[in-house]
Amino acid sequence: MKDAPMTGRTRLFPLNENNLRDTLKEAAAIINDRGLVAFPTETVYGLGANALDAKAVRAIFEAKGRPADNPLIVHISSKQQCCKLARNIPEKAFKLMDKFWPGPLTLILERQEIVPDVTTGGLDTVALRMPDNEIALGLIRVSGQPLAAPSANLSGKPSPTTAQHVISDLWGRIDAVIDGGTVEIGLESTVIDMTLPVPAILRPGRISLEDIEKEIGSITTGYLDGNQPESAAVRSPGMKYTHYAPDATVILIEGASTSVVHRIQEMLKTYGLEEVKVGLLLTDESNMDIYHDEQLSLGSKDKPAELAFNLFSGLRSLDARDVDIILVDGSFSHHGIGAAVSNRIRKAASSIIKV
Ligand code: TXA
Ligand code: MG
Repeated sequence: MKDAPMTGRTRLFPLNENNLRDTLKEAAAIINDRGLVAFPTETVYGLGANALDAKAVRAIFEAKGRPADNPLIVHISSKQQCCKLARNIPEKAFKLMDKFWPGPLTLILERQEIVPDVTTGGLDTVALRMPDNEIALGLIRVSGQPLAAPSANLSGKPSPTTAQHVISDLWGRIDAVIDGGTVEIGLESTVIDMTLPVPAILRPGRISLEDIEKEIGSITTGYLDGNQPESAAVRSPGMKYTHYAPDATVILIEGASTSVVHRIQEMLKTYGLEEVKVGLLLTDESNMDIYHDEQLSLGSKDKPAELAFNLFSGLRSLDARDVDIILVDGSFSHHGIGAAVSNRIRKAASSIIKV
């Protein structure tokens, strides 16, 4: 529970099949009392407050230690709420809502005045998403408020995929955690800016560029994936900060599976001589060829959804074992959600080695 003062302020709501209604009522009362409630979504756990209440939203930034210029996603439970929060919504945005909501897609739209500056980081746009999770949707409905909710981790740490992750980062700093078990996807939503003449993906996620292009035609990417020059500017304020970084130093090794395995074995020898404690995040394939004290497989290199599901918890669990360095096997497929997995690991990494 490092960094979290134990004030005893946080309530834990464990969910079972009988207590959903009562839990939602109590949690909604906390939201309407300007409090902070962490809750599961299908992507990662969010830390929610009434998005229209500047004081409540300010408390989110404080609890997470989040820079004030990094805007929050506003979570809604019906498409009707869009028009209250956003204006000049383009036809293509409605098409994406019809196809992908509720689901892991966040749309950047022109904002209405009612959304406070603190929620949008002072931007004239607002990020909207309808999560595909009955607890998240229930909390929005019962509280009657759109919920501003970033991932429920300390700023810079890997996003939480279980209530336990939220507790270890934020216990004592927030009012409540609803424990709805492990999330489904494990990586945050795709973020797309719909205010541009050609819409741009600002953060990749499970809904891929190809999925979106099938619905609305040509779009572009506004984030760096290692293949563009730095000048391909990053337009999402959040993407410029170090992210997803565990306490250990992360080194990503990219290349074909056999070359990656070979390099990791060489590095283990060198670190062994220097008595550096190394943890490995591998794919099932390389996990068969390497034997080391601290090693975890994230899943098959050809099943990026498995890697996505296990990535953040893998980073957190190696941190808990106090390793100095984490070597990550980057030989996995970059198709579909693989692009998003690669994006998150690259942001966590201090260096990237291509073999
Ligand atoms: O899956 C998710 O999106 C999770 C769950 C809880 O919904 N939420 C999440 O929020 O990942 P957060 O705050 O960790 O990431 C939000 C991202 C940041 O990169 C932020 O900069 C970007 O969305 N964003 C928010 N509003 C924006 C805006 N108006 N313009 C550009 N980027 C924006
Ligand atoms: Mg986050």
